[in-house]
Order: sequence, then structure tokens, then C-alpha cells
Amino acid sequence: MSNRNILITGGAGFIGSHVVRLFVNKYPEYNIVNLDKLTYAGNLANLKDIENKPNYTFVRADIADLDEMRRIISSHKIDGIIHLAAESHVDRSIKDPFTFARTNVMGTLALLQAAKEYWDTLPEKYEGKLFYHISTDEVYGALELTNPEGVESPFTTTASSAEHHLAFGTEFFLETTKYNPHSPYSASKASSDHFVRAYHDTYGMPTLVTNCSNNYGPYQFPEKLIPLFINNIRHHKPLPVYGKGENVRDWLFVEDHARAIDLIFHKGKIADTYNIGGFNEWKNIDLIKVIIKTVDRVLGNPEGTSEELITYVTDRAGHDLRYAIDSRKLQRELGWEPSLQFEEGIERTVRWYLDNQEWMDNITSGDYEKYYDDMYQNR
Ligand code: NAD
Ligand code: TYD
Repeated sequence: MSNRNILITGGAGFIGSHVVRLFVNKYPEYNIVNLDKLTYAGNLANLKDIENKPNYTFVRADIADLDEMRRIISSHKIDGIIHLAAESHVDRSIKDPFTFARTNVMGTLALLQAAKEYWDTLPEKYEGKLFYHISTDEVYGALELTNPEGVESPFTTTASSAEHHLAFGTEFFLETTKYNPHSPYSASKASSDHFVRAYHDTYGMPTLVTNCSNNYGPYQFPEKLIPLFINNIRHHKPLPVYGKGENVRDWLFVEDHARAIDLIFHKGKIADTYNIGGFNEWKNIDLIKVIIKTVDRVLGNPEGTSEELITYVTDRAGHDLRYAIDSRKLQRELGWEPSLQFEEGIERTVRWYLDNQEWMDNITSGDYEKYYDDMYQNR
């Protein structure tokens, strides 16, 4: 593949910043253009360490602005796109679905169209080009909970294997699982996935889609479960557990996702789909107890001190019960697997947020604080 001028959208966000960092450091021969609107979720402080590298350029723009996308893609002679820009928080999508349709659906469509128009003008056309779309496991809908009472579950151990999970569960999301999104967020991501595949099937554009499970790690906006709870424990604020805390998510360390994206961008089969996951399912309440234990230990509090902060609140509307990815295709075909055990990942994550309080305080002061207090009061 000849991709040299690579556009990464959403690079100032959580996962995008890890992908930008990896590509800028690993591929000095590539020109990396980070395109981001800098919404509340975008933060250039996430990229301080690489912002002056000669192979890195930042462009502030809205992916839904077709003319801007045309201009940026042609002026930077883009030949590879890794598309992460999106509205990404389910709770916000429940309050404001239109913004999700605008960015995730119309924005993806504008980016596809602008890339197609530019690549159509080139003599080599689609040769050596790639539009790689980053999606989520949430498009597949929700799975049943398959851990019966009294049976030892892999969900509460920090070092369970893929085999343990597969032997225990009866259902996993495969690349062939039918789409069945429930939230406005997952509906908008599903729609964007369909548009990406349609540009391949209709125009022959080289595209790829991956669907990943919940990510965790440094630089995640603190409206998502793990950074929110670490920060609330630090400030001795309530920990709002939705419903009974019975929902299950499959957690993957963000750097492992970035590594998978790098591998798939370079080695993935055009028009294919790969699921990316950690084989690391946790019931929310069990995960929350691990976070509490870890934060209390790092802060020097007696074990369990912060359990009193657990506060059960009204459940999220349409709250998907369980997500669980089967990522064996990616392992089989491209040799990827998660590199980090959850125990180590959560330790690194907790320490990162506690060591980077200025980063957190900058984000959580001002507008966001008001938004969060409002959300919390209204549950
Ligand atoms: P994030 O909310 O942290 O970051 C999103 C970034 O996109 C921000 O920098 C924001 O400024 C930018 N953005 C938003 N609207 C834009 C627009 N109209 N134009 C240009 N930029 C815009 O999100 P994240 O958690 O890093 O997720 C990145 C991608 O990965 C998303 O597509 C998401 O659906 C997908 N994904 C996320 C997870 C997860 O657990 N976080 C899991 C699987 C897939
Ligand atoms: P979140 O981090 O928002 O990711 P997603 O909804 O995309 O899976 O939430 C993870 C899980 O934690 C989800 O089941 C909802 C739950 N949750 C809470 O119980 N309390 C909270 O304050 C938040 C933000 C999430």
C-alpha cells in the first residue's frame, strides 16, 4: 500500500489521540493530518507530546462540512483515511439524537464523498487508497447475560482467558452478526457503517470497517464510566450506578485498540470487517468495585473506603444488557490479540488519572461541571 498522506479524523479525542500518537511516532515517513472539530470531547492537550513533530499537522474542521472536506482532502493529497470523529456518548445521544445523526451519519457521508471525488480525479484512482472506518460493537445490539447464579464467572477475574470466556458464554458478536442497534448513538454508527460499505459496493471504493468493544485508558473524557468514577472517588462525590449495575461490557485497553487499527490499516483485507475486543467482560458493579479498590489503594485510603459512594440511580433508557465481542477472526487472520491483562490496564489507568489531575481539572471545570451536575440531578 502506498498510503503516505494519512488523514485521521477525531484525533483530538480519546482513541484518536492514541492512534495519532502511534502513527506519528512509528511512521516518520508518513504525513499525519489530524482533522478535528474540537467539540467538548476534543482536546489538543491530549497530543502535547507530539504536536511539534515534523510529520504532524492539525486542522480544525467539521466533518459534516462537505466543501471543507473536499478542500482538506485534495490540498493534503490524502491517500489513506482513518475515520474516528464522532459523537460517542450514549447518554448524550438520548438527549440530543440530531447531533448524532448530523456528525456520525452526515459527517461520515461527507467524508466518503469528498474522498471519492478526489480519488476519482487521480490517474491511479483507488489504487493504494483506503477509507478505514472505526465503529463500535454497539451496532450489533444487546446479548443475554449468560452467567447463571452460583457458577464461577470469568467476568469477575482479572486474568481470564479467551477460552474461559468462550466456554462460559453462549453468545458473542461475530462479524456476521446482524445489526440491531438500540440507542440513537448505535443507530447513527450503524447507519454510517452501512454508508461506508455502500461506497465500496456501489463505487468500488476501498473501505474497511472495524467494530470494537468498550475502550479504557488515559485521555478518556470523564463522562464515561471509568474516568468519571476515578475522578468522583478522588473528589468524594457519588458514583451513579445505572439500574442494578448488572450490565456487562467487554473492556479493551485503548493502546491495544490503536495497535489493532495500525495492523488492520496496513494488512486488513479491503471491504472486510474485523471485530476487536478484549475477551474481558465485566458486570458494571464488579468493575466499579475493582476501580474503588484500586483508587483507594493508590490514594492510601483503607480498603473499601469509597464503597459508600456507590449510589444506585435511575437506569439509562433502553440500556443494553451485555456486549461481548468474539475477536478470533482478527487473531486468526492478522495475529492480533490484546497485550495487556486487565489488572495491569486498570492499574495504569487509575494511576494516569491520579497523576494527571491538571488535565482532568481543566476538562471538568466550567461548562462541563454544569452539564454533569445537571445530568446527575435529573436522573
Ligand atoms: P471521543 O468522543 O473521545 O472523541 C471524538 C472526537 O471527534 C473528538 O475529538 C471530537 O472533537 C471529534 N468530533 C466530534 N464531532 C466532530 C465533527 N463534526 N467534525 C470533526 N470532529 C468531530 O470518542 P472516542 O471514544 O475516542 O471514539 C472514537 C471513535 O471510536 C468513535 O467513532 C466511536 O464511535 C468509536 N468507538 C469508541 C469506543 C469507546 O469505547 N470509546 C469503542 C468502539 C468504537
Ligand atoms: P459508558 O462508559 O457510557 O459506555 P457505553 O454506554 O458505551 O457502554 O458506560 C459503560 C457502562 O456503565 C454502561 O453499562 C452504562 C454504565 N454507567 C453507569 O452505570 N454510570 C455512569 O455514570 C455511566 C457514565 C455509565
